[in-house]
Amino acid sequence: MLSDNISRLPDGTLCFAGQSIPALAAEYETPLYLMDEERIRANCRMYLDAFRAAFGERALPLYAGKAASFKEMYRIMLSEGMGVEAVSRGEIYTAICAGYPTANIYFHGDGKTPADVSFAMEVGVGCFVVDNEHELALVSAEAGRRGIRQKVLLRITPGIDPHTYEAVNTGTVDVKFGVPLETGQAFHFVQEALSLPYLDVAGLHCHVGSMVFDEDVFERTLDIMVGFMASLNRSLGFVTRELDVGGGYGVRYREDDKEADIPARIAAVADHLKALCADAELPLPFFLMEPGRSIVADAGMTVYTVSTVKHIPGFKRYAIVDGGMGDNPRYCLYGSEYTVLHADREAEDSAIFDLAGRCCESGDIIQPAVCLPRDTAPGEHIAVCTTGAYNYSMASNYNRLGRPPVVMLRDGESRVVVLRESMEDLCALDL
Ligand code: LLP
Repeated sequence: MLSDNISRLPDGTLCFAGQSIPALAAEYETPLYLMDEERIRANCRMYLDAFRAAFGERALPLYAGKAASFKEMYRIMLSEGMGVEAVSRGEIYTAICAGYPTANIYFHGDGKTPADVSFAMEVGVGCFVVDNEHELALVSAEAGRRGIRQKVLLRITPGIDPHTYEAVNTGTVDVKFGVPLETGQAFHFVQEALSLPYLDVAGLHCHVGSMVFDEDVFERTLDIMVGFMASLNRSLGFVTRELDVGGGYGVRYREDDKEADIPARIAAVADHLKALCADAELPLPFFLMEPGRSIVADAGMTVYTVSTVKHIPGFKRYAIVDGGMGDNPRYCLYGSEYTVLHADREAEDSAIFDLAGRCCESGDIIQPAVCLPRDTAPGEHIAVCTTGAYNYSMASNYNRLGRPPVVMLRDGESRVVVLRESMEDLCALDL
């Protein structure tokens, strides 16, 4: 199986976190997002332990809430001792509602509005990751109005190609995020920030991309960032107290995907950073990373019920299910790959199907060319694996379909942590 929280009983019933998928589908109906709480916690601990081993108390992983943001997730992050990065008022508010302390939130985003900045400062967000010079002025003015000194990190674009897909590359010079080093703009950005009395410039941030597998991406990033830290130190006397290198480690969606050995990668990154800082005679900064996908992806599974099966002889077979691009737009957007399993049984005689959704668009495909029992029939259950990241959080109400509930699994028990959106919910904001 793709991940050790997925298994089959001898009769072919698929299980997730040790619980029967058909039984969960009967109890909660479909489409249904399942999340394995133990796996989320284990992934957090993998980062926390690796950080502690490499840096002692001088490092913190921040969970990137954009991967999956709902209250229970922030409760889990709080109980595991994870920091949080947020990109909107909505994510910050959700964290606050869950009792997550705002002091541990790093506020990201390249298009923060004056209302965002004011809200985040009002609720005491610990650190703003400032994306650009306009935002710098905005944050500084708001801090001045409030008479506080706001801690900030400055987002730098290091000019690194992380070798991932276009939509999630954020490292190269021409992306919309951060201020590029290559053009000399980053130096002026830092210089400007240091001249603003209401800002406490704690350090630098960069994020080069998502679904990163190349082993040396963070090392190459550090070569550039520490070089920049050294030049800032030489010419401005600036000491980078915090260095945040963003998120990005990839996960396995298919059996033949590579596996990133994250603890080993973190140990190597730490050694590299220490050596670079020692060479440049710089103090080792407090180290931050922002994992999202690698915390929650393999903790998620989506369950559907087949509505219709179509066979167009000589062309295609479709299994059309009761969800689709509304709950998982990732194949439509990025051509993302997934492992798809029949959840009720295994069969010797299989056929290739396109797993299609119910939206009124030919492009509503969850995954093309998946192998399912040839006699797959309406009413049977299909599981899409590794949907914990960027599925619930990217879901929409296209075609006025309600978003599925999120059911958390732990120790043989299940509980709803996000309710299914009802038809009344869909109309709740209409006047
Ligand atoms: N930090 C920053 C500043 C980010 O922009 C991101 C992701 C992360 C951290 C977390 O990266 P991760 O560890 O999850 O790779 N919707 C796309 C992914 C977009 C990622 C956006 N930024 C997808 O479904 O593949």
